[in-house]
Amino acid sequence: MQINATTCNLSSKKTECLVFILSNQKDHSNIRQLAIDDSSQYLGNEIMELVTKLQESDDIQNKLGSSLVINDPKSLEAKRLLLVSTGDKALNEQMFLNLTHIIGNKIRSLPIKNAVIAIQNVDVVGRDKIWQAQKISQVLAEKSYFSDAMKTLDKQSCSLKKVLIVIPKGQSLKKTKYSCALGMSISKGMNLSKYLGDLPGNICTPSFLAKEAKKIAAGHSKLTCDVMNEAEMKNLGMNSLLSVTAGTQQPAKMITLKYYGCSNKKSKPIVLVGKGITFDSGGISLKPGAAMDEMKYDMCGAASVLGVFSMLVNIDLDINVIGIIPAVENMPGGKAIKPGDIVKSMSGQTIEILNTDAEGRLILCDALTYAARFKPKNVIDIATLTGACVMALGSHASGLLSNNDILAEKLEAAGEKSTDRVWRLPLWGEYDSQLKSNFADMANIGGRSAGTITAACFLARFTKDYDWAHLDIAGTAWMSGNNKGSTGRPVPLLSQFLIDEAAND
Ligand code: BES
Ligand code: MN
Ligand code: ZN
Repeated sequence: MQINATTCNLSSKKTECLVFILSNQKDHSNIRQLAIDDSSQYLGNEIMELVTKLQESDDIQNKLGSSLVINDPKSLEAKRLLLVSTGDKALNEQMFLNLTHIIGNKIRSLPIKNAVIAIQNVDVVGRDKIWQAQKISQVLAEKSYFSDAMKTLDKQSCSLKKVLIVIPKGQSLKKTKYSCALGMSISKGMNLSKYLGDLPGNICTPSFLAKEAKKIAAGHSKLTCDVMNEAEMKNLGMNSLLSVTAGTQQPAKMITLKYYGCSNKKSKPIVLVGKGITFDSGGISLKPGAAMDEMKYDMCGAASVLGVFSMLVNIDLDINVIGIIPAVENMPGGKAIKPGDIVKSMSGQTIEILNTDAEGRLILCDALTYAARFKPKNVIDIATLTGACVMALGSHASGLLSNNDILAEKLEAAGEKSTDRVWRLPLWGEYDSQLKSNFADMANIGGRSAGTITAACFLARFTKDYDWAHLDIAGTAWMSGNNKGSTGRPVPLLSQFLIDEAAND
C-alpha cells in the first residue's frame, strides 16, 4: 500500500472515498471556524447541513469511531464520504490509535482502490500532524499482513492500494511526507517480523532465517549479510551456543547483518542481537505439552532484528547498525546436552547447565561476546527469554534491563513515542548471586524467584565491556488464544530508537 501526504481542496478532490473526521463539539462550530480560516478544509454548506441533520438524528453519534458512509455525496467530487466521529472528549494517543484502526478497517472493507483521509480537524493531546501521519501510515500498512502464508483456502486480500492524508495548508508537508514513509517502513518491518514469527518451526528453521537475511541484503549496497556454520562457530569457541544445538538435526547458523548507512563513516555501530530459537522444546528438560506449539515464536527476537533491517534499507536511515542472530533449534535427543553438563563459553567463563530449557541465554552469551568485535556504540539484545516476564508485565510492556541509565532512558522514550513500551527492572548484585554454581563459574538458572532478572544477570556477565540493554519480549512478541499470532513488536520501539539516534548523531 502507498501512503502519502498532501494539502488540497477537499470538495474538489477526486477519490473513491473521502474520510472526514468530525471532531467533538456537537454544533460543529470548530469546523465552521476552520472553514473560515482555510476554505480547502470545508466540505461546502450543503454537506455540512446534511452532517448536522445526521448528527441531530443520531444517525452518526458523538462517540469515538461512530461512522457513516454516504454514497455519491452532492457537491463533492468524491464517490463516497465516510464520516467518522472522534466523540466529545479530547483525543489522547490511545484514542487516536483506536480511531485510526476503525478508519483502517472501514476503508479496507469497502470495494475501493484509493482513499483520502482528511485530518485537519483532528487534535491529539501533545502530538502534531507529523506524528499523526506517521501513526496513520503505520496502522494502515500494518493491516496488509494476513497470517495465511501456509493456507491454500480462505486467502485474504484487500483492494485498497493508495491512501492520501490531507493536512492543513501551512504545515510542513515535506516532513509529513517523510513521516508517512517512516510509518510504512516500520509496518513493512513489522509485517516481515510477523510473517517469520507465524511460520511453523518445520519451515522457519535456522537455515530458513539465514536465507531470509540474505534476501533482505540482496541488492542493497549498504547492507551485507554473512552466515557462519557450526564449524566456524566451533573455531571461535562458541561452545555454549553449540551445546543447545546438540540434540537437533537442524544445523545452527550465526547470521550477521551489517548496515553501514551513516554518512560519517567513523560513527560506531549499534548492535542488535536477536534470539533465534526456531523451536524450543525445552530439550532434555522437556516442556509440558500445553501450548508447546507457541514455542515456534521463540525466534521473535531474531524476527524483530530482520524487521528492523528491512526498515533501515527501506528508508535508507543515516546510521550504522549490526544485527547478530544466533539461530538454533532446541531439541532432546541422544546427543543433546543434559542437566549438570558444563560448557565453556566463547568468553572463557564456564557454565553449569542445570536446565536445558534455559537455552536462550546459552546462545545469546556467545553472540554477545562476539558483538564486542564490532566496537559497538551500544548493544541491545531482544529475546523471548523468560516465562516469568509474561507473569510480571503481561502483554503490555517488554521487560528492559540495562547496565547503562542513558541507554535505558532512550529506550523508554522510544517506547513511549512508538506506543511499544518497555518497563525497566533492576540488575542488582543480590540477584546475580542466585546464579552461583558449586562446579562452574555460574549456573544457567537462578532458582524460581525473579526469573527475568536472573536471566538478564546471566547475560550481564558477558556484556561488561560495552553499554548494553536487554529486552525480554516473551509477553509482547505474540498473542495466544483465539487471536493467536505474532505482533511485530518490538519493531516499532527499535525503529523509533534508531530514528532518534540517527537524528542526534
Ligand atoms: N523461550 C522460553 C521462555 C518463554 C516461555 C517465553 C513461555 C514465552 C512463554 C525460554 O527458553 C524458557 O524456556 N525459559 C524458562 C527458563 C527457566 C528454565 C529458568 C522459563 O521461563 O520457564
Ligand atoms: Mn526454553
Ligand atoms: Zn526459549
